[in-house]
Amino acid sequence: MMDTTPYELLGGEAGLRKLTHTFYDVMDRLPEAKEVRDMHDGNLDSIKERLFEYLSGWLGGPQLFRERHGSVCITSQHKKFSIGPAERDQWLMCMDVALDEVGASAETKAMLKEPIYRLADFLRSDKQRA
Ligand code: HEM
Repeated sequence: MMDTTPYELLGGEAGLRKLTHTFYDVMDRLPEAKEVRDMHDGNLDSIKERLFEYLSGWLGGPQLFRERHGSVCITSQHKKFSIGPAERDQWLMCMDVALDEVGASAETKAMLKEPIYRLADFLRSDKQRA
């Protein structure tokens, strides 16, 4: 259907929660994601929920992050971290693996690839040095 949102394609609330929780489990597990993992808090429970809330709105579902935390600027939330191409790519790799693990279709993955890359690239903190 033309008006299906990515949020719906990923299985709505339950599907997206599964994806974001799996995402941080992957980050926690993969040695290749160690640098990015180490930038995060020891306990990933609250950020699992925050990524779920954020992506819910970003993917065309309910604007949960805004409703619960106000209109937080996601860019400024990342300024304090040192995010270059390597960190961006580790983050994106975790998302790729998580999408596979939740069984996202090839169409869904293809549709998300560019926009997710642009979002992650936008959060880089080394842009002026690139
Ligand atoms: C598409 C890309 C990304 C999205 C949608 C995203 C989303 C988020 C969200 C929603 C939060 C929680 C903000 C809050 O607490 O209010 C967060 C925090 C964070 N993000 Fe990202 N992020 C992205 C990319 C990255 C990348 C590339 C890195 C690289 C290291 C990163 C590192 C972090 C860290 C370290 C935190 C803080 C975690 C903590 O306090 O434990 N993020 N991100």
